Amino acid sequence: MKKFIRIFLILALISLVVLQFIRPDKNNGGYESVTGFETETKPSQEVAGILKSNCYDCHSDQTQYPWYAEIAPISYYLDDHIRHGKGEFNVSKWEGYSAKKKDHKLEEVIELVEKGEMPLDSYTWLHGNLNESDTKALLLWAEVARLQYQNELKVSSK
Ligand code: HEC
Repeated sequence: MKKFIRIFLILALISLVVLQFIRPDKNNGGYESVTGFETETKPSQEVAGILKSNCYDCHSDQTQYPWYAEIAPISYYLDDHIRHGKGEFNVSKWEGYSAKKKDHKLEEVIELVEKGEMPLDSYTWLHGNLNESDTKALLLWAEVARLQYQNELKVSSK
């Protein structure tokens, strides 16, 4: 039995080492900017800072990776969140969204931030969470940003 456990541990160690050589592609190579999104939705400097440090890592094409992102299997775990998050809402692709979709995404931002579902718990665990004033500033910005898209929708449906 002891021998079996030893072989198992050695195999597990070997696979962990081998895993280090397989790295998911980094989500920052094809540098797509967030300026289009910010030009349209006009966050204040404060709100832009909040978005950058709490949301863009999973919702833009420019993730700032922490050092532990280099370590498998953490690298796979982060990659999965980034792909999934970007698939739903990617500010670097904002210009390609319709006014309806933009309005809806901002509605989701408000809903998820109010419920405390975004940023994800696994993220706030290491990065810290939004405090009350960050949350307020973010919600107010999203409400105001929605107005222009709602206006666009009204005009286009006339
Ligand atoms: C660690 C990665 C991560 C961070 C950081 C993060 N999100 Fe997300 N987000 C996700 C994932 C994954 C999903 C999709 C799965 C889900 O809904 O739980 C998602 C979904 C969303 C959606 C839903 C889109 C839709 O139409 O359903 C919105 C809106 C959103 N996030 C906004 C934010 C905002 C705003 C922040 C910052 C305050 C933020 N997220 C921070 C990973 C993240």
